[in-house]
Parts: sequence; C-alpha cells; structure tokens
Amino acid sequence: MRAGDSLRWPASRLATWSEPHLARVEAALSRWVGIDAPVALGDAMRYAVLDGGKRLRPLLVLAAAEAVGGQSGAALRAACASELIHAYSLVHDDLPCMDNDVLRRGKPTVHVKFGEADALLAGDALQALAFELLTPDGDEVPAAVQARLCRLLARAAGSQGMAGGQAIDLASVGRALDEPQLREMHRLKTGALLQGSVEMGAACSGEATAPAALAALRDYGAAIGLAFQVVDDILDVIADSATLGKTAGKDAASDKPTYVSLLGLDGARSRADELLGQALAALDRSTLADTGALRALAYMVVDRDR
Ligand code: IPE
Ligand code: IPE
Ligand code: MG
Ligand code: MG
Ligand code: MG
Repeated sequence: MRAGDSLRWPASRLATWSEPHLARVEAALSRWVGIDAPVALGDAMRYAVLDGGKRLRPLLVLAAAEAVGGQSGAALRAACASELIHAYSLVHDDLPCMDNDVLRRGKPTVHVKFGEADALLAGDALQALAFELLTPDGDEVPAAVQARLCRLLARAAGSQGMAGGQAIDLASVGRALDEPQLREMHRLKTGALLQGSVEMGAACSGEATAPAALAALRDYGAAIGLAFQVVDDILDVIADSATLGKTAGKDAASDKPTYVSLLGLDGARSRADELLGQALAALDRSTLADTGALRALAYMVVDRDR
C-alpha cells in the first residue's frame, strides 16, 4: 500500500469514467483523420492513428478539463490534437533513421506497411491536422482559448519538447548519461507532451483557474510525464512484444541509455513510485475538487503492464 492509496479509484471506476470519453475520442478521430487526403496518405494517417494505443494523452486532457470545469468541445479537440502529435511522433520514432522498429500497436509500423516516404508525410500531415483541429471557424472555441491551446501544443511538440528530446535520444546512443541528463532527455521526449496534455485540458476552462491550481496541475503533469518514460524503459526490459504491441528489448539492443541501464530495475521502479507520490501530492496541493480521474490516471501510468 502506498501513501494516499485510500483515495485511489478501483479499476472499475476508472473504466466507467474512461469508456464514454474513449468512445468520443475514437469517433472524433475517425471523423477527422485522413479524410480526403490524396492517394495513400489518408490510409497511412488513419492506419497510424485509429484502432490502437492507450489514448493516455486524450484522457489526461479530458480529466484535466473536468478538474477545472472546462468546456467540452474545446477539450475534445485538444484531446484529439494531443493524440495526433503523439501518433505522428511514433510514426517518425519508428523510422529506420530513428529507432528502426517494425512493430507498433500490434501491427507492422507505418513505414513497413506504406513505405518510408508516406510514413514521413503521414507524420507531417498529422502534425498539421493537430493544429487545424485546435482552430475551428466560428465561435465553438473562443479565440483566446484556441491561441493558448496552440501555444501549449507547439511548445510540447517542438525543440523545447518532444522533437528536442528525440534529438538528445539519438545523440545519446552508446553513451552513459548521468541522472540529470537522462531526466532532461525523458522530460523532453515524452514528459513534455504528457504535461502539455494536462495543461491543455486546464486551458479549456471558460473561467480563470487559480494560478496556484494551474501550477499544481503543471507539477502533476511533469511528474507523471517523467514517470511514464521511466515505466516505458522498465517495460522494454520486463514485458514481451505481444503484450507491448512493439518489439521488447529494443533499448538494450540499440544501446540506449535508460532508467534501467542507469539505476537497475529496482532503482527505476522506486523512481517511478517516487514520481507517482509527487504527482498525487501535486493534486492534493491543487485544492481542486474533481481530481479523481487525474489521480487514477497517475496510478495507471505507473502500474500499467503495456
Ligand atoms: C509510447 O507511448 C511512446 C512513448 C512516448 C514512450 P504510449 O505507450 O502511450 O503508446 P500508445 O499510444 O499506447 O501506443
Ligand atoms: C519515444 O520513446 C518517445 C517519442 C517521442 C515517440 P521510445 O523510443 O522509447 O518509444 P517506444 O518505446 O518506441 O514506444
Ligand atoms: Mg525512440
Ligand atoms: Mg522507439
Ligand atoms: Mg521505449
């Protein structure tokens, strides 16, 4: 039992909360992704996004929006936009010039199925679509909220976020990083988009959320964002490819520095638990009433098996 566990939702409650949200996200993605794209591009985009993935980033957006009483149309768009950036990052991450992976979400990777050029373009188009979704015509999402969402997502995806972290990852093959260096790499390549998802959800509020609550949500996002990649490193070692839907054991085979290579399995596991504690403490500090789903998602990040 961990400290604070008495507030933890049972799995059935998280499932009941998630199901309608996941259904809305799947329907929206299916409606928005790859429609009317020429030749194979639309198929490659839909293949990359639909029928797979845990959809953690959309769930974080929706849970954070709920915690601040956010507007649901904006939150659905932000949820899908965040997933599109994530899906694009996976397509590019798997390319031969990056991690050279052949299996993703239990299927051949996009470049294996469609070729490298279409995989590159599908990633490009998914990134553009993410920002298009955040900027609808009309008054569905107030202009100030649109601008804030675009800024948060751009920061999370760009050189100060995911793309920057991926650059560090590629430059670190075969090198032993110390913990601050590894933390920075993980914070950027994975943490930034998870934290950004939480911040985007919070930005969907029609009313001003107290700065202290926003800061606490940011701290929560940073803690689970880093924890997520620590657990990804652990699962790469202990899980099998069928469960993961991607090739297990790739980090060691590719000589990537990870939390497991730095701290060992037990050390990485306790670091993930420590980060979970920080995430839960940040939610307590937020003084927001409705943080049950965010709390449950933090446990999910650390206790997942895939
Ligand atoms: C995998 O992310 C890539 C990382 C950022 C570590 P997820 O584990 O969230 O992948 P899906 O979306 O469930 O496939
Ligand atoms: C990827 O990290 C992070 C991204 C930005 C896609 P990994 O390379 O460890 O992700 P997996 O293990 O291939 O999913
Ligand atoms: Mg990678
Ligand atoms: Mg990879
Ligand atoms: Mg990995």
